[in-house]
Parts: sequence; structure tokens; C-alpha cells
Amino acid sequence: MRRRGPACWGLLLALVLCRLRPARPRNVLLILADDGGFESGTYNNSAISTPHLDALARRSLVFRNAFTSVSSCSPSRASLLTGLPQHQNGMYGLHQGVHHFTSFNEVQSLPRLLGQAGIRTGIIGKKHVGPETVYPFEFAYTEENGSILQVGRNITRMKLLVRKFLQTQDDRPFFLYVAFHDPHRCGHSQPQYGTFCEKFGNGESGMGRIPDWTPQTYDPQDVLVPYFVPDTPAARADLAAQYTTIGRMDQGVGLVLQELRGAGVLNDTLVIFTSDNGIPFPSGRTNLYWPGTAEPLLVSSPEHMKRWGQVSEAYISRPPSWTGSPSLTRAMPSLAQRLSGSRAGPSCRCWRQSPSGAPSLAARVTTRSPWPTPCAPCTTRPSTSCTTSISRCPFPSTRTSTCRPPSRTS
Ligand SMILES: *[C@@H]1O[C@H](CO)[C@@H](O)[C@H](O)[C@H]1NC(C)=O
Ligand SMILES: *[C@@H]1O[C@H](CO)[C@@H](O)[C@H](O)[C@H]1NC(C)=O
Ligand SMILES: *[C@@H]1O[C@H](CO)[C@@H](O)[C@H](O)[C@H]1NC(C)=O
Ligand SMILES: *[C@@H]1O[C@H](CO)[C@@H](O)[C@H](O)[C@H]1NC(C)=O
Repeated sequence: MRRRGPACWGLLLALVLCRLRPARPRNVLLILADDGGFESGTYNNSAISTPHLDALARRSLVFRNAFTSVSSCSPSRASLLTGLPQHQNGMYGLHQGVHHFTSFNEVQSLPRLLGQAGIRTGIIGKKHVGPETVYPFEFAYTEENGSILQVGRNITRMKLLVRKFLQTQDDRPFFLYVAFHDPHRCGHSQPQYGTFCEKFGNGESGMGRIPDWTPQTYDPQDVLVPYFVPDTPAARADLAAQYTTIGRMDQGVGLVLQELRGAGVLNDTLVIFTSDNGIPFPSGRTNLYWPGTAEPLLVSSPEHMKRWGQVSEAYISRPPSWTGSPSLTRAMPSLAQRLSGSRAGPSCRCWRQSPSGAPSLAARVTTRSPWPTPCAPCTTRPSTSCTTSISRCPFPSTRTSTCRPPSRTS
């Protein structure tokens, strides 16, 4: 019999180790607010009542310094779902006919890679990124095939869709993306429901009813006017309407989490709550000022209970954070580590080696793994490069990859 070289045994061992699956699937739920800001008890706004977000925060690490790379809906969402900044993923602006923006065809998005890695993907609510082939969710109820008011603001409908997603018999881990359309303005599209759609489903005549929603109304005199908004009667009326839709989203968050609890998977699920961009007020959304780019961020890991309720000052630059932002991964394991069940160190990132050695810039876009993959050697020597084999990379298992500590590439 021919003797196999040590490299071969190493490869075999790596394959075997990487195939070991955790006993229970570990899932990720990503909840996104649409133009959501810091109007919640969690972020010390005492004028609004957000009991469900506050409860989630009590089992989360709360980040005070999380930022989006671009203060606009589609580009921010594309970054979230690809881990790549705009110039790499191609979504430079809003994804709609007149703006003509879509991601590059070859971009490896989270739903694409996770799907290939045997993880079930679902989206409920606002998608607003494309093309379809780059963002292929298995389970999809979005504005592309339904009413955005129903899938993004009707929290009863959203609850039932989450239930439907969870009821499917499937033992794969899941990545579920619940993207509320609240608290986005709606005066331009559905003025009959109020400036923030705050009346949609409130049971008044012509408004329909959302059975699970108990509307909270606010007196404009009682709202907290942010420092960057002029304190005028019009602004206060807008803020009061905004608070009401935040309340609907807050109750929706409670319903979604209750569905996970009911299905017995909440304790196996990493829950992330954040927003796409700043609030739709002066200096907010579409502006590079703090109110435009700063985002709420709650990260709730059932496996890191000792961090629950803590407030972190760590700076989070949102798009790259799934791919190994030093501060987020120091605080929490990465999304993909969680999904892959890996316990390997957070400081590795895998690259497919091009035949000539270093990957070219173009190659990086398509071959970079969006998550830190298991690379044990790097965890003990974080400053040096190493070569290892991994089976859960989004490319063929026997491929040799180079791991190195994350750097702020762009
Ligand atoms: C809220 O205020 C308390 C008391 O000042 C502070 O300790 C906490 O960090 C604040 N929370 C956030 C998220 O800013
Ligand atoms: C939307 O797409 C899903 C498949 O992901 C399908 O099951 C559902 O029926 C569609 N909804 C509508 C309203 O067409
Ligand atoms: C919200 O969804 C539920 C369940 O699909 C439905 O019964 C209700 O009429 C919807 N409400 C509105 C305002 O559309
Ligand atoms: C949830 O999971 C954590 C970590 O695996 C464990 O320590 C805790 O006991 C679990 N809680 C429940 C209610 O199962």
C-alpha cells in the first residue's frame, strides 16, 4: 500500500472535524427596522414605550456605536447581506427602475452562500435588493410578490409567516431575515394611513385591523425631539406618528420572538436587531451625519448570557461586521461560526488561493468567504498566516485556503 503523506492525513482530519455537526441546529434571526433609530427604552428614550425591544435588549449585548456604511435603504441592505461595501457589491443606490441599481451578478450574498452550505434561508418583509439570482431566499414573502403593507407592517400576517417558516419540517439550521417596513414614512405612497402609516390596521373606519396590534398613541407634547430636529409643532406631530409605528414594530418583534419560543428554537438562535439607516428627519437618513449613519444594534446570543443587558461602546462598522469586524467578533461569535457550529477563533478569514498565489482583487469579490471559517492554527497565532483545509467554506471542500487575521480591506 502506498504511504500517504502527513499533509493528506491532516486534510482527512480536517474534513472529519469539519463534518462534526452540533447536536441541535443553531440558527440566526436577523430583524431589521426600516429607518429605525434610537427611539426605544433600550436607548434611554423615556417618552416611548417599547417593552418588547427592551426585553430583547435584556438578553442582548447592546451596541451604542454601530454604523452603516451608507445611509440609504438598498445599499445598506446589500451591505448587510453581502458583507461587502457598495463598490464591491454594486448596489450603489436604491433598487428600483428609475435608479437602476442592482448588485453585480457574481456577488456571493449571504442567502446564496448559506443556501449552498446547507442552511435554510427565509425572508419576510422588505427586500429591496436585487437581482433575484444574487439574493435567492428559499422562503420569500416580500414586496416582490405581495403587499409591502401586509408583509412589512401587518404584524399578524408577519407572525403567521414566521410560524409557517418554522413549521416546515426541516432539520437544517436556518437564517431568517425579518425586515419590517415600520417605521418608514408612508405619506408619499399611502397618505390615507397617515404620514408614517400609523393608522394602517388600527381598527378605525377604513383602516382595517391588525388583530395582534394594540396601537399606542402619543401626544406631540410628550415626544422627545432629537437634538438635530427643529422643535416645531410639525416635527412633534411627525415624531408622535413615528412613535406609533415603532410601537407596532415593537409588538411585532415580540410576536416573532414568541413564535421562535413556541417552536422551541429561541434558545438555539442568535437574534440580531438593527436598522438600515437613520431616521427620516433633517440630518438623518441619506446624511453622513451621526443621525444618518448611527444604528441601533442588539445582539442576543443564548450562549453568552453573561453579556446580556450590557452596553458596549465598541465601534461597529456594519457591513464588514459579519465578516469579522474585530470589535463585534471579540464580543460575539460571528454569524457563520454560529451557523456552522464552529468554535474556532474569531480572527480568521478564509481566502481561496488563486493558482498564482495571492487572490486578485476581482477574485476576492467572488471567492472571499463572508464569514470566518474554522481555521484552528490561526487562533493560536493570530498574527501569522496559515494554510489549512476546511469543509464548510462555500467552495469545494478539499480546496486549500489561506487564513489570515481580518484586515479592514475595502
Ligand atoms: C442608558 O443610560 C444609562 C444610565 O445613564 C447608561 O448606563 C446606559 O449605558 C444607557 N444605555 C444606552 C444604550 O445608551
Ligand atoms: C411568494 O413567494 C412564495 C415562495 O417563496 C410563495 O410561496 C408565495 O405564495 C408567494 N406569495 C404570493 C402572494 O404570490
Ligand atoms: C392583517 O393580517 C391578518 C392575517 O392575515 C388579516 O386578518 C388582517 O385583515 C390584516 N389586516 C390588515 C389591516 O390588512
Ligand atoms: C439555553 O442555552 C444555554 C447555552 O447553551 C444554556 O446554558 C441554557 O441553560 C439554555 N436555557 C434554556 C432555557 O434551555
